Amino acid sequence: MDDIEGKIVRNDNIVSNYYLLKMKLSKPMGIVKPGQFVMLKIPDNEVFLRRPFSIYACSRDLLTIMYRVVGRGTAYLSKIKKKENTFVLGPLGNGFHLKEKGNHVIVAGGIGIAGVHSLIGKLRGKASVFYGCSGRDEVALVGDIANLDPRISTIDGSYGFKGNVVALLAKHLKSIRRNNVEIFACGPENMLKSLKKLINKDKIPCQVLVEERMACGLGLCFGCVRKTVDEKEPYKRACREGPVFNLWEICL
Ligand SMILES: Cc1cc2nc3c(=O)[nH]c(=O)nc-3n(C[C@H](O)[C@H](O)[C@H](O)COP(=O)(O)OP(=O)(O)OC[C@H]3O[C@@H](n4cnc5c(N)ncnc54)[C@H](O)[C@@H]3O)c2cc1C
Ligand code: FES
Repeated sequence: MDDIEGKIVRNDNIVSNYYLLKMKLSKPMGIVKPGQFVMLKIPDNEVFLRRPFSIYACSRDLLTIMYRVVGRGTAYLSKIKKKENTFVLGPLGNGFHLKEKGNHVIVAGGIGIAGVHSLIGKLRGKASVFYGCSGRDEVALVGDIANLDPRISTIDGSYGFKGNVVALLAKHLKSIRRNNVEIFACGPENMLKSLKKLINKDKIPCQVLVEERMACGLGLCFGCVRKTVDEKEPYKRACREGPVFNLWEICL
């Protein structure tokens, strides 16, 4: 893991408040596991702390992140122009653990697609993908995986299944409940809670990427702890022991 300088080569508004940022790094980031993240320096002096973003894609010295504008840091980020320089610290955290064989089911909600995008790429069409968003325009966020035929839900019913992505998964659960099934999920806390409730009876193996607020990203400040069922050491750092956790080991 290194602090690497990056030059912005694209910062495109995909839809509403979602952006895709591409950076050319001064050196390759090395091996990146799906689910790992970077701490990105927002190129503005008023935003002191770096912000964590999942590695959406990384190929040699080209790093891509997808982000949603939610506050000050991401608002500044959306304004930065091509050729500006910044720094990324990474790759950080423990990514998804993949078994050689298995039936992989990926569930993402909203900007959670950014956290599982490289996993979908790695599994190259071998996973069933469920994606939920608010309306038809956000379906563009899965544009580059459209050939994988993801099952899509929208809250307003303007595209695909009307409702949330966990309700959509519930409809298909019987057909995907086969041997060796494992779910990989990233999305809002409420999505993770409903997912846990849905699969609680069968305790289907499930890994979730949690998006805790972070300060250092290095395991030093304990600002990102998440309570787990581990009686000896219940508090685990999302940046160090996570951000991918076993769903059955964390408290939601
Ligand atoms: C491991 C990891 C990976 C992430 N990957 C991505 C990604 O790929 N794309 C993306 O858009 N975002 C991602 N996030 C969330 C992202 O880091 C925050 O949205 C960002 O830091 C917000 O910065 P801000 O300055 O714009 O918002 P702030 O001004 O800091 O906060 C604005 C609002 O957003 C809320 N908020 C801030 N951070 C989070 C968070 N982590 N979770 C939920 N609510 C939050 C605050 O409570 C507040 O209401 C990830 C977070 C983690 C920990
Ligand atoms: S963000 Fe500092 S310990 Fe995780």
